[in-house]
Amino acid sequence: MSKVITAPKQLDFRPADLPAMDKPGKLLMVRPTHFSIDYVINPYMKEHVGDVDKAAAAQQWEGVRDAFRQTSMKVHELEGQPGLPDMVFCANQSLPFRDDNGEKEVIMSIMYSANRKPEVAPVEEWYAAQGYQRHHLNYKKINSFEGMGDALWHPGRKLLWGGYGFRTSKAAYGFITKTFDVPAILLELRHPEFYHLDTCFCALNETTVLIYPPAFTKNGLQMIRKMFSEVLEAPKEDALHRFACNATCPDGRHVVIQKASTETVEQLQKHGFEVIEVETGEFIKSGGSVFCMKMMAW
Ligand code: ARG
Repeated sequence: MSKVITAPKQLDFRPADLPAMDKPGKLLMVRPTHFSIDYVINPYMKEHVGDVDKAAAAQQWEGVRDAFRQTSMKVHELEGQPGLPDMVFCANQSLPFRDDNGEKEVIMSIMYSANRKPEVAPVEEWYAAQGYQRHHLNYKKINSFEGMGDALWHPGRKLLWGGYGFRTSKAAYGFITKTFDVPAILLELRHPEFYHLDTCFCALNETTVLIYPPAFTKNGLQMIRKMFSEVLEAPKEDALHRFACNATCPDGRHVVIQKASTETVEQLQKHGFEVIEVETGEFIKSGGSVFCMKMMAW
């Protein structure tokens, strides 16, 4: 069912009615060797140009990797590239998919800012080596698409949640839904601090999502509440300063999240999740945390 959904009344199905999608068993991470803050493309970076503690970043990156390993996900490590300081945020260069025949496919991104455009090619090489069929958006028609920064799979289902407004063009979702033959529910983003969907929306399992409500329109919130029976809300301090909604639940049970989001962690535990807290402060300076630092794959 390929369909772009923009209003609650179009939601005449439940996620459980849609075909299942195999859980990803691998995560890709890009090593932070060349991570730095050299330019400003989001509000967080403004105060931190030239201000990354490289040794701390390396240590934090390893902490995130080890937390993922604790969840029994297999982590693939890719070396970063000189001159591409944001490549470490490898949620953004692609959107992978597994079709009904078990074939692995991927749509490669068109990054919004010129600084990040060259990150796509080295990530595409990795997919080629992993046996993925690769698809490309028409860059003459689509301005930008930032992969799993904005396009997020509903856990376990062939259903996409598609953020747009800052980094991804709404128009990209027509091609994406047709290519993968899946529906996408579009969510307009309203605040520059929550410029990617993964900064304010974290689907934890098929029925539970963690969000920061003020990042969405009324329409968007209605669609989220219609499709998830449990909607956990991160308080402003956790969402803004600790990127709590940029957590990751790779296996439906463990949630890897930036440290000290106390209120959010309490809610997660109340709902039966096992929380693994990590420190990602150096990466938050650049506007990203746990979710942005990995790509799920098969
Ligand atoms: N500095 C990067 C940028 O602005 C951070 C990307 C964070 N990634 C994410 N998926 N939210 O593009």
